[in-house]
Amino acid sequence: MKSTKSLLRISAALVLLTFASCSKKLYEPTAANVSGDATLEQLTEGKSLYTKSCNRCHSLYMPKDFTREQWTKNLNRMAPKAKITEEQKAAIYSYLTHNPKRKK
Ligand code: HEC
Repeated sequence: MKSTKSLLRISAALVLLTFASCSKKLYEPTAANVSGDATLEQLTEGKSLYTKSCNRCHSLYMPKDFTREQWTKNLNRMAPKAKITEEQKAAIYSYLTHNPKRKK
């Protein structure tokens, strides 16, 4: 009985850890991320589309993992795989390139 309990506790801790590490990675768009070419609605929509359409075959890459130019190329390659429209691709691109830590 005792070992079952501690096993449960360990599993619960692992589940929590998994959630914690996921939620802290992808940023939540706010007004602070909005600049020139993108609206907050588009960024929010982009995040939602990204988390829905892009993790079927691999886990999600972080916005800061690639430059704007690389994201353009990656999205052009991945859009047909994910079967998304031009509009959805543009929203995802906006989300991925308006992250707070972006330098270029
Ligand atoms: C049908 C499967 C599939 C879907 C859906 C998919 N990908 Fe991929 N993705 C792959 C495969 C396979 C690779 C590795 C081979 C390659 O780079 O072509 C990859 C690689 C990548 C890479 C790494 C490129 C690099 O240079 O390291 C990025 C970034 C990426 N995908 C982004 C996305 C985004 C964004 C979406 C959603 C629009 C998406 N993927 C949807 C299959 C998929």
